[in-house]
Amino acid sequence: MSDNQPENIIGGKSFTAVAVNCASKAGEWIKSKMGSFTQLDTKYSMHDLVTEVDKGSERMIRNLIGTHFPHHSFLGEEGVEPGPEASAKALMDMSDSEYLWIVDPIDGTTNYVHGFPFFSVSIALAYRGQVIVGVVYDPSRDEMFVAERGKGAYVRGRKIQVSEENTLSQSLIATGFPADHHIALPANMKGIQALAPKVRNLRIAGSAALHLAYVAAGRLSGFWEYNLSSWDIAAGSLLVEEAGGRLSDLNGETYHIGIRNVSASNGLIHEELLEELELAKASQ
Ligand code: IPD
Ligand code: CA
Ligand code: CA
Repeated sequence: MSDNQPENIIGGKSFTAVAVNCASKAGEWIKSKMGSFTQLDTKYSMHDLVTEVDKGSERMIRNLIGTHFPHHSFLGEEGVEPGPEASAKALMDMSDSEYLWIVDPIDGTTNYVHGFPFFSVSIALAYRGQVIVGVVYDPSRDEMFVAERGKGAYVRGRKIQVSEENTLSQSLIATGFPADHHIALPANMKGIQALAPKVRNLRIAGSAALHLAYVAAGRLSGFWEYNLSSWDIAAGSLLVEEAGGRLSDLNGETYHIGIRNVSASNGLIHEELLEELELAKASQ
């Protein structure tokens, strides 16, 4: 199938098949390398890690996508200079792309390095800026989360839906400790302090993409994080939307691929979550 046929534009099966194949191959490979990587470096800060496995996984995904869709654009974390400004600029520079693959080759590298089995491969395809395919693969549990715009969200072929909690007090909420410890971490700490007494419990498991997949699967009621990059959110955003949830920035603006301060939820607790974060001044 050629990649420029109009019928392939929205949720074309070949796009999804390629995304799933890439996530599966890369995921198996990173899992096989766990505990035996040889190069550990820091990037933006001492909290931002990278190994040769992150780079190899991205190369593998880029090559596979390039083989199938040589005219598509590719934005992967390891091809961009470290830091929030560079990642925002890289996305801006590609904003005119018709088809743009947005890839995090290992989301949760700190977990990966420590052998904590909560990390993922995140692959999204955006068409004129709108995500149309989102795949998040957890190789540790062999869970492939797949969404196509308009066609629902699935894990291992089973349709998933967001949870039904309608108050924060019944909710299990996740967030993340960002690599930026100057602005993002203090902002997130305010949110954590405000929300901890109000929710059923908080989780900070270390992979934003997998947290979003868990919101989609109803395993988490909601998630927020400050200053993420497009590759952390894009694939998970479609999973949440297609599973019936809501995604916005921390001021309530509807999600688009440029959003960095993100809140995702089952929809029912969204306003309450945003209000608490706003009261805590965690949205600034
Ligand atoms: C990180 C993870 C983590 C989140 C950080 C991200 P990386 O991505 O998603 O959960 O808290 O903000 O940078 O660096 O492991 O790809
Ligand atoms: Ca990431
Ligand atoms: Ca990464």
